[in-house]
Amino acid sequence: MNPRNRQTIKRPRGKSVRSSMGILEEYAKQNPGSKAAYERARLVLPSGCTRTVLHWPPFPLCLRAGRGTRLWDVDGNERIDFNFNNTTLILGHNHPRVVEATEEQLARGTVLGAPTEAEPRLAEELLRRLRGAERVRFTPSGTEANMQAIRAARSYTGRDMVAKCEGAYHGSWDAMDVSVAPPLEEAGPRRAPRSVRQHEGIPDGVLGNTLVIPFNDAEAAESLIDEHGDELAAVIVEPVQRDMPPEPGVPGVRQGGHGAPRHRPYLRRGDILQARPGGRPGDARGHPGRDHSG
Ligand SMILES: Cc1ncc(COP(=O)(O)O)c(C=O)c1O
Repeated sequence: MNPRNRQTIKRPRGKSVRSSMGILEEYAKQNPGSKAAYERARLVLPSGCTRTVLHWPPFPLCLRAGRGTRLWDVDGNERIDFNFNNTTLILGHNHPRVVEATEEQLARGTVLGAPTEAEPRLAEELLRRLRGAERVRFTPSGTEANMQAIRAARSYTGRDMVAKCEGAYHGSWDAMDVSVAPPLEEAGPRRAPRSVRQHEGIPDGVLGNTLVIPFNDAEAAESLIDEHGDELAAVIVEPVQRDMPPEPGVPGVRQGGHGAPRHRPYLRRGDILQARPGGRPGDARGHPGRDHSG
C-alpha cells in the first residue's frame, strides 16, 4: 500500500455494505487486517495497544500511514482523520516542513543526554504564544506534566489535597484516576460527588486526597472548594473536557474554571489539550457515567 498513490487505495464504500448487516459485523468485514493485527498484539500488549485510550471494542483499527488529513489502515482503507491525535497534530499528518525538520534533527542524533540549543528556542516560541505562561517544562507525556504540576503545587502550598472535576481525565496516575467515569450507583450526589477509584490498585490514602467537584455547576463546585479551601493545594480544570463541553452560561467555566476568587491562586487551568473538539468513541472505560450536560 502506498499512501502517496491514491489509485492503489481501496476505499470503503458505504453502499456496498448490506443494510441487514450489523454495524460490528460490517466493521469486522471492512477491517480483517486490523482484527488480525489486534489478535497478534493482544498476546504481548495489554488491550493490544500501548495506551488504554487507544483501545475500542471489538478491536481498534491498526493504522499504517497518515498524510495531511488522511489515514490509511493495514487493510488499505483510506479515512479522513477528524481526531488528529486528540487535536495535537495541528498541521495534520506528515507535513513536509515537519518531516524536513525531524530528518535534520535525526541526522544530528536523537537523545544526546544533555541540554540542546533547540529546547530554549521551542520554549521561547511557546511563551510568545501562550499568554500567562512564564517558563516551560517539557515532559514526555500529559500524565507526567500533570504529575509534576500537582507535585509543584503540593510543594508550594504544603498541602496534599487536589480538586478535579467529575468525568475529567488528567492522565493515568493514582491521584487523577478518580471519578473519571464512575458507575452511577457509586458516584454519589450530583452536586457533591464521591471520590471513586477508576481502577483497583489506587490506595485509600490517595483517594482521600482527591476532592471531586462537579463540572458545569460552578456554584456547587465553588461551595466544595470553599469547604476544603484550607486543605487544597490545587484545582485542576480542563475547560473543554473530552466527553463534555462546557455548558454555555455556567459562569465558572467561562471565566476560566471553577473556584472562588480567593482560591484562584491554586487554580491550574487548561491542562494539555484544551483545544480538544469533543468526545470520541473508544473512550471505553466501561461506564456510561453521569450526564453533565445540564
Ligand atoms: C486532558 C488530558 N490530560 C492528560 C492526558 C494524558 O496524556 P498522556 O496520554 O500523554 O499521558 C490526556 C490524554 O489524553 C488528556 O486528554
